[in-house]
Amino acid sequence: MPGVVIVGAQWGDEGKGKITDLLAQRATAIVRFQGGNNAGHTIVRDGEEFKFHLIPSGILHADKMCVIGNGVVVDPRVLLSEIDGLKRAGVSVGNLRLSANAHLIMPYHVLLDQAGETKLGKLSIGTTRRGIGPCYADKALRLGIRVQDLLDEKILRTKIRAAIEPKQQALRELSVQRRKARKEAGEEAKGIEASDLVPDPRLDVHAMVEEHVNYGHRLEPHIADTAKLCWDALDSGQTVIFEGAQAALLDLDHGTYPFVTSSNPIAGAACVGAGVGPADIDEVWGIAKAYATRVGAGPFPTELHEEIGERMVERGHEFGTTTGRRRRCGWMDLVALRYAVRLNRMDSLAITKLDVLSGIGPLRVAVRYRSKEGAVLDSFPYHQSILHSATPEYEELPGFDEELGECREEADLPQAARDFLAYVSEFVRVPVRLVGVGPDREQTVWLDS
Ligand code: GDP
Ligand code: IMO
Ligand code: MG
Repeated sequence: MPGVVIVGAQWGDEGKGKITDLLAQRATAIVRFQGGNNAGHTIVRDGEEFKFHLIPSGILHADKMCVIGNGVVVDPRVLLSEIDGLKRAGVSVGNLRLSANAHLIMPYHVLLDQAGETKLGKLSIGTTRRGIGPCYADKALRLGIRVQDLLDEKILRTKIRAAIEPKQQALRELSVQRRKARKEAGEEAKGIEASDLVPDPRLDVHAMVEEHVNYGHRLEPHIADTAKLCWDALDSGQTVIFEGAQAALLDLDHGTYPFVTSSNPIAGAACVGAGVGPADIDEVWGIAKAYATRVGAGPFPTELHEEIGERMVERGHEFGTTTGRRRRCGWMDLVALRYAVRLNRMDSLAITKLDVLSGIGPLRVAVRYRSKEGAVLDSFPYHQSILHSATPEYEELPGFDEELGECREEADLPQAARDFLAYVSEFVRVPVRLVGVGPDREQTVWLDS
């Protein structure tokens, strides 16, 4: 299995961290290839909980190389605080490598993300406000600051000046517009004010350069040509796991735009975000919950607003790892999952959080949508307006009341749980090879299929 990609098959938070940690046992290296600290990955090992935003989910294996690839956007403060946290917990970070080509989330990206979200008001995408969108925008504009720039003060200063200049202007304009709008509406605006941002000490170039040179000193032992590290491992037949953050339906190109993240979380992006070729990828794993969740705004056809959704939130502890926001919950959507399967050309599925569904039955899975004109939609509609107003149609399956937390083998699972997995697998035509029955890494069932 030399090149293995792990991706989210829904709207994120499927349990990619746990599955990556599990599959990492068979790998030499684990490489994050996109996203930034908008991600929140939780791993529970022997009851101890670890939360990662930037560090690859293989880090708990002392002998594995963990790589933050060029496609990731890195907030150096967050990375250093994760490194410090791991050291305090006694976890070695000696094998952590950071691509010299990865782009940095700078303080102005975070401020712009917050200001942008405030400005959008009711239409807010509900970003994690971590500066992800503005950072990827600067990358595309060729105004980005890269990890390697931390090692050259002169270049760093020049690039920060070039990047910040057009933004200060935008922030000033935004500030004037907002003040005018507030006056006209005669109301107090909520959240961070753009006018607060212009004189923000965090935007002082001299202080920013000094701070980032210091980050460069601290990160230098980890900075590397990470594409070459991947080639060396793959060329010698070792297994490399490419770990995706977010998920297919949050993909910038293929997700529910504009309610998406600003990178490509699908398997195809692993090549770009790590620096390998398509032929280096041998296997793609999709991770899906046994139900569905979404954080932030955007279409979610199977969303439940009634008691069952509440039960999913309670039983599944559906609150975001990064922002603490309550996740929206709903039934598993097989139309959307089949779309994600094809987009990623998945070979295997891991279905997590099956334990959450016990006592909730009968269970439902969406098998088609109906448009508001009454048309039957068997596949995910390309037109967003259709998706917004589509109604899901469900297949009802028997539920189960047994708690699954102690199940370790397929035979331990109640028949109804096995039938549920078989139905999902048959519908999307991908084998379910791994099932999550609790947050701990031990709470896992491998299937033979
Ligand atoms: P990720 O972003 O895809 O890595 O997922 P998150 O870590 O954000 O969210 C998944 C949550 O579910 C975490 O709190 C995990 O500890 C937890 N989790 C993962 N797998 C299972 C499972 O099979 N059952 C239960 N009950 N919880 C799980
Ligand atoms: P993991 O890796 C769930 C969502 C945000 C918002 C949209 C855009 O833990 O699965 P952004 O800050 O990326 O510009 O926000 O994407 N989002 C996630 N939702 N899990 C994530 O990551 C997410 N990362 C971003 O809630 O709707
Ligand atoms: Mg998460």
